[in-house]
Amino acid sequence: MKASSLCFRAAVVLVIVGMGWGLQMAISQDHSTYPAHAHLNLLGWVSLFLFGLYYRLHPALERGRLAQAQIWAWIAGTVVMAIGVGLIHTGRPAGEPFAGIGAILAFASMLAFAWTVFRADRAAVAGQG
Ligand code: HEM
Ligand code: HEM
Repeated sequence: MKASSLCFRAAVVLVIVGMGWGLQMAISQDHSTYPAHAHLNLLGWVSLFLFGLYYRLHPALERGRLAQAQIWAWIAGTVVMAIGVGLIHTGRPAGEPFAGIGAILAFASMLAFAWTVFRADRAAVAGQG
């Protein structure tokens, strides 16, 4: 699948879960898990959709293995981190390793994306894409 399509599809799935989580907090009047909700939406919806727009603007990157790995690491990191943070904020310290591993995965994914952006911009300056 094209990198941008993967981003757009995963982003809409994650925001439906994230909004459901928000509604659940609002209805129950228990906002204790809001940091997990916030990061699920900001990493899983906003950031992922922005990655998608970037890849759509750079068709040469769409089928690259680095792009696929970067997106899957971001999706996995976001989901694992949200679960971990959710567990921590419901009084379950067992969530800590999940939050940590998810955060590291997301951070590694962002480093890969930063490398892609710098490399693609250098190619654009050189007139290659
Ligand atoms: C049906 C949609 C949504 C509902 C019902 C909802 C509900 C909530 C609730 C109840 C809180 C806790 C507020 C508090 O106690 O301070 C919250 C926090 C937050 N939500 Fe949502 N949310 C929704 C969608 C979204 C979306 C789409 C995003 C991001 C694009 C988002 C980002 C945030 C952020 C960043 C916070 C933390 C705000 C802060 O630090 O005070 N939410 N949301
Ligand atoms: C590896 C990635 C990230 C880690 C480990 C991280 C960690 C944190 C931590 C520890 C807090 C304080 C939470 C609290 O006091 O309860 C926080 C808050 C916040 N972060 Fe992040 N963050 C990450 C990525 C991001 C990204 C990419 C965005 C936006 C696109 C973002 C937006 C926010 C916002 C809006 C808040 C305030 C709302 C809240 O407390 O949940 N974060 N983050």
